[in-house]
Amino acid sequence: MPDSWNIKLSSAGGVGVSVILVEGGVPLMGKVRIKGAKNAVLPIMAASLLSAEKVVLEEVPDLEDVRTMSRLLRHLGVEVFYDCSSERLVLQARRIMTCTAPYGPVRRMRASILIIGPLLARMGRARISLPGGCAIGSRPIDLHLKGLAAMGASFTMKNGYIEASAPKLRGANICLDYPSVGATENLLMAAALAEGPTTIENAAAEPDVVDLAAFIDMLGAKVRGAGTPRISVHPVASPGGGKHRVIPDRIEAGTLMVAAAITGGDVLLENVISRHLTAVTAKLRECGVHVDESPDSLRVVARGRSRAVELKTMPYPGFPTDLQPQFMALLSLARGTSVIAETVFERRYLHVPSLQRMGARIHLEGRSAIITGLPALQGATVHAPDLRGGAALLLAALAARGVSEIHGVRHIRRGYSRLTSRLRALGGRIYMG
Ligand code: EPZ
Repeated sequence: MPDSWNIKLSSAGGVGVSVILVEGGVPLMGKVRIKGAKNAVLPIMAASLLSAEKVVLEEVPDLEDVRTMSRLLRHLGVEVFYDCSSERLVLQARRIMTCTAPYGPVRRMRASILIIGPLLARMGRARISLPGGCAIGSRPIDLHLKGLAAMGASFTMKNGYIEASAPKLRGANICLDYPSVGATENLLMAAALAEGPTTIENAAAEPDVVDLAAFIDMLGAKVRGAGTPRISVHPVASPGGGKHRVIPDRIEAGTLMVAAAITGGDVLLENVISRHLTAVTAKLRECGVHVDESPDSLRVVARGRSRAVELKTMPYPGFPTDLQPQFMALLSLARGTSVIAETVFERRYLHVPSLQRMGARIHLEGRSAIITGLPALQGATVHAPDLRGGAALLLAALAARGVSEIHGVRHIRRGYSRLTSRLRALGGRIYMG
């Protein structure tokens, strides 16, 4: 490691540090096991509010967002126990002590909004401050509230809080204006205890929604059509408990696939569901990257500089918006000019200025980014603007010439468990500042 650095460095787990130091230019080699999906475990944790019985979740990654959701649920009265070594989370909502979600956890994490549906379903009321999370757009919740209103809920806004009430939710036929993941998830949870069946048209089809549906099915409600635009829910009068294994995280997998590609490496990903990554694998192959796939593993072998491509983010099964920043880093080094169209979020380009500091040639026009690929990026001091933008900067730094200093590590820790130590195990020269 260069002796020019005067920051006390450790390769410890990185808890509490705010800077990552990366020496670029080393191809990543080896194998890595993918962890449970953040965007599946968070709604499933919220769904534990539906039942007074014990639920056991396996493959729960040790993430900042999981800790935040745990704190939020404990505040509501849920018993929550997490064992880091086994990655097992036990929850039991015997009694709900309050229906008010405090400002702190809600401000830090968008997924907090997912407690509205289950609280309304179980308690008939919920009070939550307007959600926070990544700064990647306005992040409205109108589709959540419109769908819950169709089920009989009413809402008032007071002192920055949404106050929701519904003496008894009733099943409804709801058509979403947009296949919102969170709105689909909130409505699925609300429908699980409502009076009568619910149908959600134009529902989100993400694997995280399918995993939540399987969990709700385990509690006793009957969910049909998850993974398609039309989902139906037959409620359960007395929900039970049980054990559920969370699906592998396709976004973590995609992030590590790009890490292999951008560093010119050869990495085997284990514990993946390859069919959840069809759009990502196709796009990497279009870039000239070699991908060997089996149902539960993916091997990514870079073959020289990537080719430029056109990329458009779409709801699942289209190309995932959560991998757009990481692909932008890869395309910054491609041969030719690439165009990215970000159709899901209106401001998901906060990582561009930092990539430009590393030498990337990126021009923004509305929701599109035009990237002129270069033979190399330069190490620089940069700041992670949000979770996936931070991951993109880490990948760019692994490929760049020289040393990068990445600030704002807390964003990365929200959604990736021990990412830096796992990249180090693949040969990445990463140090915790
Ligand atoms: C989920 O967010 C994920 N988060 C996001 O991942 C992901 O990017 C997104 O789905 C899309 O796949 C979690 O699951 C915790 P949406 P969510 O509702 O539910 C608009 C990550 O990095 N919209 O599908 O908030 C919204 O503004 C995070 O892990 C409304 O207009 O996404 C956005 O433009 C980032 N009104 C679009 O829909 C609403 O009521 C997609 O939002 C709801 C959403």
